[in-house]
Amino acid sequence: MSTAPIETTTRPLTVLVTGATGKVGRNLVRHLLENGHHVRALTRRPDTAGLPAEVDLRPGDPTQPDAVAEAARGADAAFWNWMGFNGAGASTSVGALASEVAHVVYLSAAQLQHGTRGVMPGVWADVEEAIKATGKDRTFLRAGGFAANTLGWAEAIRAGDPLLMPYPEAVRSSVHEADIAEVAWRCLVEPLHRGRAYEITGPEQLTQRQEAEAIGEAVGHPVTVRQQDIDEARAQYTAWSGRDFAEATLGYYATLVADPERVSDDVEHITGHPARLFTQWATDHREDFAPLGTAQEARRASDHAGALRAPRRL
Ligand SMILES: NC(=O)c1ccc[n+]([C@@H]2O[C@H](COP(=O)([O-])OP(=O)(O)OC[C@H]3O[C@@H](n4cnc5c(N)ncnc54)[C@H](OP(=O)(O)O)[C@@H]3O)[C@@H](O)[C@H]2O)c1
Repeated sequence: MSTAPIETTTRPLTVLVTGATGKVGRNLVRHLLENGHHVRALTRRPDTAGLPAEVDLRPGDPTQPDAVAEAARGADAAFWNWMGFNGAGASTSVGALASEVAHVVYLSAAQLQHGTRGVMPGVWADVEEAIKATGKDRTFLRAGGFAANTLGWAEAIRAGDPLLMPYPEAVRSSVHEADIAEVAWRCLVEPLHRGRAYEITGPEQLTQRQEAEAIGEAVGHPVTVRQQDIDEARAQYTAWSGRDFAEATLGYYATLVADPERVSDDVEHITGHPARLFTQWATDHREDFAPLGTAQEARRASDHAGALRAPRRL
């Protein structure tokens, strides 16, 4: 690894963060504030965003070009988190964003790093193309599967039920959201990352079963895994994400049994430390798998209602 000093911006930047209330976004906001930058957050729910007081909250979401342009006006750079399963409308929103900022850091997907095309990377490929078409500086953070995807197992783990998985031996290189956020912060403030596309993964390959076992270790009781019937899995995934995305996701998991997800060292190159292990993620999120108190039950019920309206992700 190079030991040359890394050029960083010499003045505080104003950065528009989309998805600022999410898993990656909250960590990114913290890094930017701690390092003296100004943060604007585009959020659908400014009243309950729960972000630090210094954050300039702007109402709206990335699918609303007028809200995007308004929030981005006068900002230097933006972190772009395009939620959902297709890129319809992305080019208009991205155009509105790029008319205001000089640099866009986009949270994309690792499959694109190796030229994969098809249903699965469709949304990320479409959004990357839309950003390229603006001609503005960009950095693509092509993230592998988030370790946080395993939060979908929390209900069964809390209840002591076995986890049902169609491909328990699928091998992933799951990445901690804290690493993605740290990379995003560096890419926003260090000019050398402009024009680059990075593959952001965890540091190791684990089967889904091993990830479940690691969560069991962290919570202090064993977690068991059972093979799920593929038709049952298909029905569940289709209900979350639509038929095409569900088929592509299941097909992808099937390939990971014999052809594991890659491990990249881009996190280490950019942040100067190795990417966090899955066991670290499980320890950090132990509480998310613990039995719920009454207040948490109420919050979860309301989050669940929101989640039913919101598209799920890979
Ligand atoms: N999960 C993976 O394995 C994976 C892999 C590669 C890439 N990605 C990409 O990573 C991104 C997700 O990042 P994350 O996990 O940090 O996000 P997250 O925790 O799910 O939060 C995203 C935030 O986006 C805002 N939002 C705007 N429109 C939304 C909508 N229709 N549905 C839900 N939330 C919406 C919400 O904020 P407000 O309520 O404040 O508006 C929410 O807090 C996605 O773009 C996904 O494509 C994911």
